[in-house]
Amino acid sequence: MPKLNNLSLAVASALALSAPLAGAMGGKPKDSDDAVAARIQPVARVELAASAPKAAAGDRSGEAVYKTYCSACHDTGAAGAPKMGDKAAWVPRIGVGLDVLVKTVKAGKNAMPPNGGSDATETELARAIVFMTNQSGANFKEPAAGAKPAASDRSGEQIAQAACLKCHETGEQGAPKLSDKVAWAQRGSKGLDAVTKTVIRGHGKMPARGGMADLTDEELRSAIAYLLKRVGAEGH
Ligand code: HEC
Ligand code: HEC
Repeated sequence: MPKLNNLSLAVASALALSAPLAGAMGGKPKDSDDAVAARIQPVARVELAASAPKAAAGDRSGEAVYKTYCSACHDTGAAGAPKMGDKAAWVPRIGVGLDVLVKTVKAGKNAMPPNGGSDATETELARAIVFMTNQSGANFKEPAAGAKPAASDRSGEQIAQAACLKCHETGEQGAPKLSDKVAWAQRGSKGLDAVTKTVIRGHGKMPARGGMADLTDEELRSAIAYLLKRVGAEGH
């Protein structure tokens, strides 16, 4: 009766483990303290190992993540990966900004698996990208530990007031006016991500980032979302 045997074994060991508890509650422990200590020691050791500072997943440096996961392709050019240090290959990719690169790598791209095949957190991934691209013509700032990339206090509305409405309220420079639902419905239908990419690069007479160079990608996104909401094109 193997099932019963297993069960009684489990019950027996549960009872054995509860012996110190019985002692604490005034019952008479069957074992000496030493024997109890010896028996629970392996458990205690495992718990210690688990709580000891590991190679701190979540707080690894860009270099560490790069060397563990990314270098296999990006050192060698395997699978057609742009090689670290190859500025000609990297400069056109860097222009979209760090936030977009992080999103691209998270999603994966062609021969590159999602997250670059790593278990890196988003911050670690950003660091690895900064490590790699800064040796390939970029000049990104590494995100601080735990910091959300590019958080900001400026709302979409504040940004739009400061930077976007001067063209988009009036139609100056041929900008699509907020009152022109038709023009916007067409542009908005590409989706917020695609539109954000367009504005990051600049488009026709619109300068890159709508002319406000210090805007982060997130801020730009919120400004565009604000504009689209005003237009009423959001979600259509
Ligand atoms: C299996 C090979 C492979 C691994 C591993 C890999 N990559 Fe890539 N990576 C590629 C390839 C191939 C491309 C080019 C994709 C394309 O443009 O078609 C690429 C492109 C990129 C780009 C540019 C994306 C863009 O928008 O053009 C970045 C940034 C990047 N990788 C970062 C990383 C990071 C960070 C890691 C490690 C966490 C990593 N990669 C691991 C193969 C790899
Ligand atoms: C100097 C005037 C000017 C400013 C300032 C400006 N824009 Fe534009 N914007 C334009 C023009 C012109 C176009 C149309 C470009 C075209 O289609 O050739 C445009 C197009 C757009 C589009 C549609 C892009 C697409 O994919 O069709 C969006 C979204 C947008 N602007 C958002 C913004 C945001 C957000 C800001 C502020 C951060 C801003 N713009 C600031 C002139 C401006």
